[in-house]
Amino acid sequence: PPYLNELAAAEGKYFGTATDQPGTGEDTDIIYQKILNGTIFGQVTPANGMKGMNTEPELGVFNYTMGDVVVQIAQDHNKILRCHNLIWSSQQPEWLTSENYTWTRETLLPVMENHIKTLITHWADVCHAWDVVNEAFASNGTLSASPWLDVIGPDYLPLAFQYAHEAVQSTGKDIKIYYNDYGIESPSEKVDAVYQLVRDLQAQGIQISVGLESHFTVLDPNTFEAQSAVMAGLQDLGVTFALTELDVRFPTLPPNETYSYEAQAFRYWESVSACMQYSGCEGITVWDFADQYSWIPATFEGEGEADLYSADYTRKPAYYAVAEALQGQ
Ligand code: G3I
Repeated sequence: PPYLNELAAAEGKYFGTATDQPGTGEDTDIIYQKILNGTIFGQVTPANGMKGMNTEPELGVFNYTMGDVVVQIAQDHNKILRCHNLIWSSQQPEWLTSENYTWTRETLLPVMENHIKTLITHWADVCHAWDVVNEAFASNGTLSASPWLDVIGPDYLPLAFQYAHEAVQSTGKDIKIYYNDYGIESPSEKVDAVYQLVRDLQAQGIQISVGLESHFTVLDPNTFEAQSAVMAGLQDLGVTFALTELDVRFPTLPPNETYSYEAQAFRYWESVSACMQYSGCEGITVWDFADQYSWIPATFEGEGEADLYSADYTRKPAYYAVAEALQGQ
């Protein structure tokens, strides 16, 4: 079979996957490990290990154990590492929302700064990119609910990037600082809000990158043209971007309606092909690669089969469609 990352690398991009280790079954699945460690994927993202609840479980006490599992995979097998994520509304440390703390803007800002700077500095030699703020905008482009927003106010978002920028500067490394979100793969008010964030930060001398998560369904009207339009806008702003969490699930279908693996393959093809047109698109990450480890069934009841491989490790048509797209076909 074509080795996807080699095809991407020939065009100056990467092709990678999220992985959810330790303790999810992936770590003891020999076939999974063999595929993950081989040359098909040239980039990895920890699906959970670097999130706030795992990295700063006690206030001011950092824990790198879970994140280091995926750091080790990247190092042992020569893969690019995307680090995910620093500030989000979900999977945060308990102390952020615990009644034992009465947070104010004045007390929480230095805590946010310390969280961001400590983690960027600690993994500075291994992170190619950090998702600094994850999923901050609602679909109408306003800020979505978050404990960080509640306590600090709307400028938590630019301030998080300012702290990240300062941390990266002090390391002297070229670590890309990403704003990462879903539902920004076709033009919308949410996309306009992301463009505006990019411009506001550029005016402060801070250059960010943008992660298009790209969680789709086979029914999604997210066409090649729509994705290209968003990416063209990012390219015009002079920022780099990436497809950070690509997958295409089968939703619960109306009776008598079926969708084929070929339909799914075409959706994958559209997204990868869109990225391949732009020098600013750094690469593509799928949000894990084998259906039995996908996040979908636990979140959307009855939905799934979203990944490139079936649970028995058969490569789906989507796999080959991605290979074609990476070669411009
Ligand atoms: O580790 C525990 C395990 O001990 C326990 O037995 C089990 C029982 O449910 O849960 C395990 O934790 C789960 C964890 O994933 C590890 O697999 C959590 O319940 C579950 O909520 C968590 O879901 C993660 C989800 O983010 C949370 O929002 C998914 O794995 C992860 O893939 C997903 O990733 C997000 C990105 O970070 C941001 N974009 C969307 C994407 C998909 O939701």
